[in-house]
Amino acid sequence: MRDVYVLGIGMTRFGELWASSFRDLFVEAALEAIGDAETDRLDSMYIGCMSGGLFVGQEHIGALMADYLGRAPIPATRVESACASGGAAVRLAYLEVASGASEIVLASGVEKMTDGADVTAALATAADQEYEVYHGVTFPGLYALMARAHMFKYGTTREQLAQVAVKNHYHGTMNPNAQYPFEITVEQVLASSMVADPLRLLDCSPVTDGAAAVILASEEIAKKAQAHPLVRIAASAQASGALALHDRDDITYLDTVAKASQLAYQQARITPEKVDVTEVHDCFTIAELCVMEALDYTEPGKAANLVEAGETRIGGRMPINTSGGLKAKGHPVGASGVAQIAEITAQLRGEAGDRQVAEARIGLAQNMGGTGASCTVHILEGLA
Ligand code: COA
Repeated sequence: MRDVYVLGIGMTRFGELWASSFRDLFVEAALEAIGDAETDRLDSMYIGCMSGGLFVGQEHIGALMADYLGRAPIPATRVESACASGGAAVRLAYLEVASGASEIVLASGVEKMTDGADVTAALATAADQEYEVYHGVTFPGLYALMARAHMFKYGTTREQLAQVAVKNHYHGTMNPNAQYPFEITVEQVLASSMVADPLRLLDCSPVTDGAAAVILASEEIAKKAQAHPLVRIAASAQASGALALHDRDDITYLDTVAKASQLAYQQARITPEKVDVTEVHDCFTIAELCVMEALDYTEPGKAANLVEAGETRIGGRMPINTSGGLKAKGHPVGASGVAQIAEITAQLRGEAGDRQVAEARIGLAQNMGGTGASCTVHILEGLA
């Protein structure tokens, strides 16, 4: 396998974007990534999208996007793994370049969720229909079960969950692309509307339109590029597991995240302590805590203590979700995994502006589908 580098990054603003269509969002992010890479060559493309069919009535997304980007007839493939669609698209692009089959590949993600579809029902298709959804549970409901179990098993408090959202909204104030770039307090989280007990409105990632894109290239191409410091993909890993919570031994422990991250640490030849900056899939506040524990950043049950101590803030020992995360930046489901790679790349290039983590050299991006039944983990290394 050959080394693979991130040559370009791009993303739209995330939010309720009435003026942009589904395809406009993809094209805007892709053109920004192509411009950032300063290349005109693309050998193929992957588009992560959870549910174009249910959100905007559009399938056959690969060819549509290649055509509107003006790149047909290159191969263009839509990738679906629920909310991990973006991470899976990056992984397939990575494998295509690593294998030597292509030199420059675009990996992207796009979702348009605010156009009036029954979003809660569309998102619920990522859970187990027969055993979970038919009985009326929604995604906030499933993560609420995980939160209750975590509170029962480890004594995690309501306030500690709120602190995750407070931290991510603070980071989001420094991201011009964020959907909700404002600060919130623990009191505001605790007073926000109840969605699924114990999770409230300000524990939830929002419903979002948006797209992100990255251009991956071989070493030969990357080393000729002058525009930015080099960023190498040191590891790309993926794992799958049970969709339904009742099929798991412990619903507070995300074993797919543990599996994918262990594979990634092995491939990158690092231990978790070496990671300088991390993006995790904080679709709900409890998710960020469970992911930190499965990534082996701390022992099970102890993640909330790190958040409370400010360790996961910019300036702390292990900054997490410097982009604002899914909570404040927004969560256009198929795009989130690609936006994470864009954020980590900006950090490792030293181009993250006000939210720059000092001397960031190794970054990790963790993206997951459903309540964690699919997961991708990428580790990136800045070579500046
Ligand atoms: N965070 C912060 N503010 C939010 C928000 C969020 N997650 N969601 C909505 N808001 C704000 C809106 O901007 C709006 O503010 P305004 O009154 O000042 O305009 C207000 O809260 C009400 O918004 P509305 O769109 O009516 O909220 P809603 O009740 O329809 O939806 C949720 C709120 C939490 C139910 C919805 O965002 C949701 O389903 N989130 C989870 C998405 C999900 O499951 N993703 C997949 C994860 S696996």
